[in-house]
Amino acid sequence: MINKDLAVQTINLKKDFNQFTALNNLNIEVEPNTVYGFLGPNGSGKTTAIRLLTGLSYPSSGHSYIYGYESFAKDMQVRRIIGYLPDVPSFFGFMSGLQYLTYCGQVFGLEYKASQKQAHELLELTGIKEATHRNTNKYSRGMKQRLGLAAALVGNPKVVFLDEPVSALDPIGRANVLDIIRNLKTHTTVFLSTHILSDVERVCDKVGIIDHGNLLVSKDINDLKKDYSKKGFEVKLSEDPATVLAIIRNKEWCQEAAYVLDTDGYYKLTVYVTEKTKAGQELQQIMALHGYDMISFNAIAVSLENIFMKLARG
Ligand SMILES: Nc1ncnc2c1ncn2[C@@H]1O[C@H](COP(=O)(O)OP(=O)(O)OP(=O)(O)O)[C@@H](O)[C@H]1O
Ligand SMILES: [Mg+2]
Repeated sequence: MINKDLAVQTINLKKDFNQFTALNNLNIEVEPNTVYGFLGPNGSGKTTAIRLLTGLSYPSSGHSYIYGYESFAKDMQVRRIIGYLPDVPSFFGFMSGLQYLTYCGQVFGLEYKASQKQAHELLELTGIKEATHRNTNKYSRGMKQRLGLAAALVGNPKVVFLDEPVSALDPIGRANVLDIIRNLKTHTTVFLSTHILSDVERVCDKVGIIDHGNLLVSKDINDLKKDYSKKGFEVKLSEDPATVLAIIRNKEWCQEAAYVLDTDGYYKLTVYVTEKTKAGQELQQIMALHGYDMISFNAIAVSLENIFMKLARG
C-alpha cells in the first residue's frame, strides 16, 4: 500500500544487471524528519538503491515512492522535492562555488537574486564560505563534498539523498558535516549511505543494514540495540579456563559461555548472563577460587559493529 505520509517507501524494489542482482526486493520505510542511515559494505547495493530512489535508474521490478510519488515517474514530481549528493560529485570547473550554486538554484526555478542569496547561505552552512569565489576545479576533495552537499540542499528539498557524504572528510570535518546533517532534519528528511558504523551511531534515527543486495534489518537504532543487547562479560586470562567452564555453565544466571585462544596469546572467555550484578560478582569469585589470574574483566557493550558483524555472518 502506498503511504503518502512516508518520506521514502520502497516495495520489493529490485535491480538486476544482466544475471546479477545488485538489489533484491528492498522494503523500507522512512518517516519524515528523520535521518535514515543506509549501511553496508562496499558493493552491497547502496548506490544502486539511491539511484533508484532518486529516479536516476529504473528498477527491474518493484516500486519506490517519495511522499507517495513514484521515483521514476515521467512527470518528474519527485525531482522537485528531493536533493541528491552523488558518491563522486562533479561540477563545472570553470565556475566558482557561488556561481555553481546560483546556477543550480536557477535551474531549480529561482530568480537570480534569490538564487544567489541562497547560494551564499549554503556556502556558509556547509563551511566553505572562504572558497565562495574560487573555481571549483581548485576545490579540495573535502571541499567538493561540502559543495555537493550544498548543491543537494538547493531549493530546500523535502528529502535529501546523500551517498557517502563524509567519505572525503578529515575527522574534524566529518564530525562537523555530520552535525550539519543532523540539524537538517528539522525541515528535511535525510537518507544517507555509509559503510562507517560510527557515523550512523552519531546521526541516524533509523538504520537499514544491507549486504549483497539484501536488507538484513531496518529499524529504529535504539530498538535495534535493545534487540541485540545481551548482557555479559569478557574475561581475559593467561590460562585455559576449561576447568571452570562447566561450573559457569551450570549457574542459573548463565545463558551462554565459551572461550577462544585470542591472537594476543590470551584466552578470552565470553559469558552471557541474565542477572548482571550477581553474575559479575560470582564470576569473579569463581575465577579467584580456582586460582585464575584475570588480565581483564569487562562488561560487554553492544555497538552497531557487533550487531552488523552478527547479521552479516548470518
Ligand atoms: N551499471 C552496473 N552494471 C553492472 N553491475 C553494477 C552496475 N552498478 C553496480 N553494479 C554492481 O552492483 C553491486 C552493488 O553496487 P553499488 O555501487 O550499489 O554498491 P555500494 O554499496 O554503493 O558500494 P560502495 O560502498 O563501494 O559505494 C556491485 O557488485 C556492483 O558491481
Ligand atoms: Mg556506493
